[in-house]
Amino acid sequence: MLKPKVFLNRKLSERTMTSLEESCEILLWDGVGHCPLEAARQGIAQAEAVLGHYPWSSELMDCAPRLRIIANIGVGFDNVDVAAASRRGIIVTNTPDVLTETTADLTFALLLAAARRLCEAERFVRNGEWTTNRGSEALLGADVHHATLGIIGLGRIGSAVARRATGFDMRVLYYDIVRRPDLEDRHGYEYVNLDTLLGSSDFVSLHVPLCPQTVGLVGQRELGLMKRTAYLINASRGPIVNEPALVEALREKRIAGAGLDVFTIEPAGVDNPLLMMDNVVTLPHVGSATVATRLAMETLAAANVLAHVQGRPPLTPVNPEVLGR
Ligand code: 8YV
Repeated sequence: MLKPKVFLNRKLSERTMTSLEESCEILLWDGVGHCPLEAARQGIAQAEAVLGHYPWSSELMDCAPRLRIIANIGVGFDNVDVAAASRRGIIVTNTPDVLTETTADLTFALLLAAARRLCEAERFVRNGEWTTNRGSEALLGADVHHATLGIIGLGRIGSAVARRATGFDMRVLYYDIVRRPDLEDRHGYEYVNLDTLLGSSDFVSLHVPLCPQTVGLVGQRELGLMKRTAYLINASRGPIVNEPALVEALREKRIAGAGLDVFTIEPAGVDNPLLMMDNVVTLPHVGSATVATRLAMETLAAANVLAHVQGRPPLTPVNPEVLGR
């Protein structure tokens, strides 16, 4: 019997490849770096399923007459044109839950690194600047314990960050379009409007998905409301922050610093001014990047493909309305 074809834009673990091979024929782009558009076009053209993180655009879907499922590796799916997929009856799936705690860990690491100037301190030691016992005076940072954390977006990852904050005796404020009285009662989180959150927090951490409503959510006006001593932490998506406005706020010391795992353009080029600022901690989008979590993400994405080819509903659809058609 002919097996359905699944296109992979990069090789996955041995375990995932083996489990897919039992039910599918794998079309693999096995090159180094980013899969070129032409290779993606050729792969998707023959495939019933695609599995991986890639800009799955409407234009690519136009080349894919047999495509029925896009299994994205990532909880965010702003890289997929979901409306275009739904119009064509293509199911889109993502990888929620399995990366929540790992991404929250990284967010907290960014917050601590920014507050305590860890990267500056590390450069100080490595550059041989630690020449007297008074070195630490050049590196005074901000306290995290008992400070106020403002979380924008108290979803899965936002609430996992909030749980970590309670261990540091922090006051947690949050703003979201959905209010969470259950979490307010259980943990004492305080719901406030966006402007109050910005004006009252020592750390502002972003955990909203990227969509038209959240592009530029934090711009010049919002940065202007933050305390001069406050830090902006972003491990969600770059375009949620207006980057030129952030550069200006940091340059003029209108906020104290930032911890950024994401950028408007990724990979961030060395000419990005944020990379030249001492009061900014920059990471290359590693929120979910642990061995176990990346394996869990690809396993879930593969399970979605396998469910589909075996005639079962996928586990984590983002456009479930397509299934009923
Ligand atoms: C991944 C992410 O780096 O899950 C997400 O939304 O941003 C990250 O976990 C990305 O999806 C690439 O695989």
